Amino acid sequence: MDTLIEIQNLTKHFGSLTAVNGISFTVQRGEVLGFLGPNGAGKSTTMKMITGFLTPTSGSIQVAGHSVQSDAISAQENIGYLPEGAPLYPDMTPASLLRFVAAIRGMTGATMRERIEQVVAQVHVESVLHQSVETLSKGYKRRVGLALAILNDPEVLVLDEPTDGLDPNQKHEVRELIREMSQNKAIVLSTHILEEVDAVCTRAIVIDRGTIVADGTPSALRARAEHHNVVHLTVRGSDRPLEADLRALANVASVDRLADSNGNTAFAIKPINRVDIVGAVSDLARTNQWEIEGLVAQPGRLDELFREVTASDVGSPPLETTASEQVTA
Ligand SMILES: Nc1ncnc2c1ncn2[C@@H]1O[C@H](COP(=O)(O)OP(=O)(O)OP(=O)(O)O)[C@@H](O)[C@H]1O
Ligand SMILES: [Mg+2]
Repeated sequence: MDTLIEIQNLTKHFGSLTAVNGISFTVQRGEVLGFLGPNGAGKSTTMKMITGFLTPTSGSIQVAGHSVQSDAISAQENIGYLPEGAPLYPDMTPASLLRFVAAIRGMTGATMRERIEQVVAQVHVESVLHQSVETLSKGYKRRVGLALAILNDPEVLVLDEPTDGLDPNQKHEVRELIREMSQNKAIVLSTHILEEVDAVCTRAIVIDRGTIVADGTPSALRARAEHHNVVHLTVRGSDRPLEADLRALANVASVDRLADSNGNTAFAIKPINRVDIVGAVSDLARTNQWEIEGLVAQPGRLDELFREVTASDVGSPPLETTASEQVTA
């Protein structure tokens, strides 16, 4: 395994506030790790510490084998960072900013020109290259920030909400770009868009109040969601009274009648402990010669898992199992 980021017991206090509370994880080459979590969870603070912009209160961070605390310059040479917001020099143009950062990164002459041309094409900022940054729209500022982050083709990318403010086409392109670049890099990104996790992340960490509350592949996280393996069964014929038979099956926790439609009767059958019951339901239907119109086990949803593991969003209601929710699941 090729570990590019290694974080141990990382903690950050701001006065009496503990923004990051003893988190540990590693990121391998080829991984795209998504940070999820409510506002104020500590995602940006963690990213700022990885990139050396904030000093940890305690704990250690290694990037590409270099300690961020004791050898920040070597670590930073291997990191491209897109900070949250768009903190760019307002009176510079994207062209001059790119040249400035390329020079800091040690590029000169034709190498510099070619590399700038390449990233400009990748993030589509050709049309605004000679316009001052302060006059750019939010999405274009984001694109310029991304161009700067990837300019020296670093092994580690830390992208704080990379698609925030981008239009749908550009969101799609940036996700494609992240996927393309991910093969040879370790990429950490934060996002509030859960579909982005499916689109680009090989793994996600959910952070809540400075601690890691879930860590796994998108499908492993889904498997922890309350409705994972809930079976939706649709049987031909209106008003079929099949609940008692379904409820009598082993490992069935509850059976909910869903709204009838098209002359069919539908049920949501929830297993105990998310176990797989689709085979048992199918056998029961066959034995009783029910005419099955649909039989599908729900994968579970990331938004559901997110709500289950993050408690800081005190305004949100407790998760309930309602038939209507399951229909749309
Ligand atoms: N420089 C600072 N001084 C004091 N408190 C800070 C500072 N920076 C961040 N915080 C606090 O630390 C906590 C974590 O903030 P952080 O920006 O890491 O959250 P986040 O997970 O990135 O949230 P969001 O989803 O809103 O971007 C918040 O309570 C925030 O107010
Ligand atoms: Mg943030």
